[in-house]
Amino acid sequence: MSGPALKPPAGVTVLFDEPLAGWTSFGIGGPAEILCLPTDEDQLRQVLDWARQAGRPVTVLGGGSNVLISDRGVPGLVIILRQGFDRISHQPLGPEEVLIRAGAGFSSGRLVSLAGEHGWLDLAFLAGVPGSIGGAAVVNAGAAEGWMSDVVQGLRVLNGQGRSRRLDRAELDYTYRCLRLDPDKIVVEVELKSRLAEPGTVSQMIGRWLKRRRVRQPGGAGSAGCFFKNPPRDSAGRLIEAVGLKGRRCGAAMISDVHANFIVNLGRARAADVMVLAERARTEVWIRFGIELEPEVRFLGRGREKWPWL
Ligand code: EPU
Repeated sequence: MSGPALKPPAGVTVLFDEPLAGWTSFGIGGPAEILCLPTDEDQLRQVLDWARQAGRPVTVLGGGSNVLISDRGVPGLVIILRQGFDRISHQPLGPEEVLIRAGAGFSSGRLVSLAGEHGWLDLAFLAGVPGSIGGAAVVNAGAAEGWMSDVVQGLRVLNGQGRSRRLDRAELDYTYRCLRLDPDKIVVEVELKSRLAEPGTVSQMIGRWLKRRRVRQPGGAGSAGCFFKNPPRDSAGRLIEAVGLKGRRCGAAMISDVHANFIVNLGRARAADVMVLAERARTEVWIRFGIELEPEVRFLGRGREKWPWL
């Protein structure tokens, strides 16, 4: 971007050619052409204005835990909402329920800790779900015990022109691991409703679920969680294991030998290595079972056209 009108907005942290690997749980990814870290909605509006005037695409990254970023990086602006978008408040809705408002950059892990402290029963399912709450709301994160779509009451979004709007639960088009949202809308705040229960009971549930995840899944670092969605009434992990791919490597990427629906980065894996393994798993499962696995992880950046099934 060049020219006098295209100077970055004053006061906003803007990094050029910033490697994105460190901003993701996979630890993989080339540079963002321009990384912007606004710390409030006003700064976010200025960043969106800047992108519009410069005619550059905008990609929003949450906690970076459900994405695979291209080795060739991401063109245009990448916006990350963290500091300043990490506020939280809660108010009782009568004696049995509570409404929580969390900034999009609030971490799921911190929310789970608060759920244990305050007895927010319906948020216990987030135990072990990584990332930010904004990202969790957009990908309908969840586990066997619950999904974000069960608890989201509304979202506050900013559109590409910087206008703020609340979307009520009734307007949200949620499906499995997906929220259909206009691409120009950025979630800045998430409203969640939960039943209240005895904090000790909720903490115990959280502890149990965390333990189960630790046994059944590889650690959060160096992966993006489950790579594929589960097909109806089956498990992608079971299918990938059944075609003999558990432990298969490409470069420094490996189909986890703990849970076959995780691809793990053993060190300096490239996105291309991960995609070779993902494509292999998809092909073998298709040949053997006639089931087409759909990715849950989102691929961002240059070169997406190489994988038409993404
Ligand atoms: N299985 C295998 N081999 C494997 C992995 C699993 O045979 O390598 C079998 C298991 O033995 C079990 C079945 O597959 O019979 C289901 O496995 P698991 O209980 O581990 O759950 P999952 O369906 O693989 C889902 C979510 C996870 C979530 C867990 C626990 C999806 C795609 N995955 O996994 O979510 O943590 O339930 O609630 O919906 C994520 O979305 O990133 C994620 C990790």
